[in-house]
Formats: sequence, structure tokens, C-alpha cells
Amino acid sequence: MRRFFLHTFGCQMNVSDSQRMAEVLRRMKMEPTPVAKNADLIILNTCSIREKAEEKVLSALGRYREVKLSRGARIGVGGCVAQQEKERLLRRVPYVDFVFGPDAISKLPEILRRVEARERVVETAWIDSEEYVFPRADPESTRGRVTEFVTVMKGCDNVCSFCVVPHTRGREVSRPCGEVLAEVAGLTGVGVREVTLIGQNVNSYRGGIGFAELLLRVAEVPGIDRVRFTTSHPHDLSDALIEAVGSQPKIAPHFHLPIQSGSDRVLERMRRDYTVAEYLERLSRLRAARPGIAVTTDIIAGFPGETEDDFQLTLELTEEVRYENQYSFVFSSRPKTAAAMREEQWGAVPHELKLERLERVQKLQRRIGGEIMAAQIGRQVEVLVEGPSKLDPSKRFGRTPENRTVNFEGDAPAGALARVLVRRSSPNALYGEQAAISSEPRVRVEERPGAELCVA
Ligand code: SAH
Ligand code: SF4
Ligand code: F3S
Repeated sequence: MRRFFLHTFGCQMNVSDSQRMAEVLRRMKMEPTPVAKNADLIILNTCSIREKAEEKVLSALGRYREVKLSRGARIGVGGCVAQQEKERLLRRVPYVDFVFGPDAISKLPEILRRVEARERVVETAWIDSEEYVFPRADPESTRGRVTEFVTVMKGCDNVCSFCVVPHTRGREVSRPCGEVLAEVAGLTGVGVREVTLIGQNVNSYRGGIGFAELLLRVAEVPGIDRVRFTTSHPHDLSDALIEAVGSQPKIAPHFHLPIQSGSDRVLERMRRDYTVAEYLERLSRLRAARPGIAVTTDIIAGFPGETEDDFQLTLELTEEVRYENQYSFVFSSRPKTAAAMREEQWGAVPHELKLERLERVQKLQRRIGGEIMAAQIGRQVEVLVEGPSKLDPSKRFGRTPENRTVNFEGDAPAGALARVLVRRSSPNALYGEQAAISSEPRVRVEERPGAELCVA
């Protein structure tokens, strides 16, 4: 096996896990290829958060079957579908060679040796303890990127009734703070200026220090200009975290705070463990501590038993908070979750109605997001330049501290901080021209698109 192709679905955890997989494979002297049909090994790093996500995985698998037939490529399935389905997946899809869970990434060399000996392998044991060793990022493989994810914890101890993650990722384990800080320091050495600390529930980080303290220490690592984090559960958004965000300017002024619904009745059935009033109270303290902070959220439309009145409350909340952006989804019933078991009792919302509600909340959010972005026209914003714009490679691309995406005319190299005059906007992006380079890159990098991580 020489060349590998990685197809990544789902959240930032999976993107980060795929990077670790690529590093393990490179150490085995394999090379990434951006073209599946040239690969000797195809790995799908999967997501099962909603039914649709799972369907995408199965249809991609169907496509890769051809590569197996034509050149004998091996096919492996990792990530959350793998963890959930285990050996069932081998039975269901006869051409899959191996299935491995998120905790088995470092076992890939051994798994591949067994696969070469014609064994069909399933490795889905969890390592749910402080003994778990988080795979460490190899800074060299990051060279060329200016922003990176850093895993600070795995798993989730919450019990949100709709969510499959506790079943696919197991119990929370925090990564020791020394390891996190060492990884961040290593990344700055190859030119990374921004890190995003990731975990399903970062507020309950306990890696020797609390999450607020971790953020403050990461912000002080020499070479780091911006620190981001996700995801933060509203029920344990602590005063210490609000204070940290208010006091350290390097912590980016963007907060993702998923509410899910504007109705207390629905939130209770979701087992989110906060009321709308509590959520708004914490949010107003956050906004007082850091004026101008951009707030984004997640919404589920059509949760079982959700009435038109409940949904109206979600629309009202959307108006009241004026989110920068919302990631909204129709409710999807997931195996083994409490909401799936109670769906009939609470009353399933018909699919058409779920879709209709989703469209209504998305339309409202597009208007609000559009207004917020339009208010940037005529201003100068600070952009951390990531490389060429995907929309138009003759333009440059980067993000503001608020995480607004910017496409602009200019010549600022990747890794520079540029001041950009905003000329135009859409609900999701700003467009403008470079006014000045305010800070040169710390490390000059050769710009190349990240080929090995096909993200769906
Ligand atoms: N840990 C994060 C969420 C991770 S899942 C948090 O608690 O905020 C990302 C989003 O997917 C969730 O916030 C939710 O809005 C959505 N989601 C999760 N399960 C879902 C389901 N069964 N149906 C529809 N949307 C779902
Ligand atoms: Fe899922 Fe809730 Fe955990 Fe988020 S906090 S991963 S929604 S169980
Ligand atoms: Fe999906 Fe697993 Fe992430 S279910 S959202 S890839 S934790």
C-alpha cells in the first residue's frame, strides 16, 4: 500500500482526527493522494449525527467500491458510524476491509498489517480513562497552514436526548494541559498563528486546570495571535470563562453557544439543562464583558412534540439575540437516543412540517446575518490570511476575529494579518480590498491546498 485517500465527514473532531490518521500513515511511508481512484487505501472518517450524514457515508462507500474492483484498494471506515455499527458494518458492506473507532487511530499500523494478511478487522474498543493518550499533532505536517484545531478533550458526559455523540465518542476525558500547551507551542514554530481548541463540551475541561485558565495560558504562548474554541454548552458557561473572554484580547470575539430551541418545554425534553431566560442572562453578561462579540448557535427544527407555538418562540429568540449565524437542522431520530424512544409518545413532527419550519428559521437568519454583515461595509477589518480564495483564486481569503470570512483583492501572503476595506457583503461573507499588511507572516510558507483531507 503506497497511496492513501481520506474522506472526512462531520465535525471538527473528525477533521482533526483525519489529520492524525494522515500523520500515522505518512510515518508508514504512505503518501496522500487527492484522487480516490489512484489510492491503494481509502479511509472514510464518518459522522452519524443525523440520518443524512450516515446516508452520505454509505453512498460514498458505494462509489469507492469501483476502486477496490479496479486496483484492489483496501477500504476502511473510521469515525462515528464505525463506532456505532462495529462489526455490523462488515456484514452490511461486504467490500469493507476494516472498521475502527475514534480511539483506535494510533492502532492503524497494526490494523493495516492484519488487513494485508487478509483479515477483516474491527477495532472499536473505547479507552475511557485518564490513561488515554491523545495522539499528538506533528507540527511538520501542518506546515503551510496558519490556523489549526487542537483537541483538548474527547467524549461527552451530557445526555441531550436527541444526540448520538455520547454513544459514539464515549465518556469525557480531558487532555492534560501541559500536552495542549506543548502542542500549541510546536504549531507556532511552523507558522500557525491561530488555534481552535476543540471538544464536544469544552466548558467541562479538567486537564489539571479549568477551561478558562487553559484559554488564558494558550493565549500567552509566544506566536499565538488568536485563540478560538468550540463547543461550549450553555449550562456550564462559567463566570471564569466570561471573564477570560472579556479580559484577554487574543481570545477571538466569537462565541458559539448552541441553544437548539427557544421553547423551555422543548429544551426540557431535549435535556439541555437550561431555560431560555438563563441562556439569555449568560449571553447578556458575555456581551457586556466583550462588546461586539459575534454569537452563533445551533437550532433543531421539528423536535418531537414541538408545536407551532414552540417554534414561534425559536423565531422570537432568533430575532431577539440577532445571531451572526445559525447552523440549523431538522430533527433526525437517532438509534439508542431518548428522543427516538419517546418520539411516538411526544408526537413526531411530520417531515414536511419540519422542513417548512427549517426554511422559516433559515430565511429569518439570512436576513439578520445579512444585516450584520452589511453593517461592515465601509469599515476596515483585520484578516488573518489563509491563502487564495476558493471562489476566485486570483483573490485572497481569510477571517476576521469574529470569524467572518473575507475574500479580497490584494497580495498579502498566507500567515499575514491584513487590513481590508470592506466593499460588499453577503449573509456569509465579506468582499473588499487590501488596505495594508499590518503584520508579516511569522514563517513564510509555500501555499498549497490541503489535498489529503477531502471534507464533505
Ligand atoms: N456538542 C455540541 C453539539 C455537537 S452536534 C453541543 O452540545 O453544542 C452539533 C449540532 O448538531 C447540535 O448542536 C444539534 O443542533 C445538531 N444535532 C445533534 N443531534 C441531532 C439530531 N438528532 N437531529 C438534528 N440535529 C442534531
Ligand atoms: Fe451531544 Fe449534548 Fe454532548 Fe453536545 S452536549 S455532544 S448535543 S450530548
Ligand atoms: Fe458527527 Fe461524530 Fe462529530 S457524529 S458531529 S463526527 S462527533
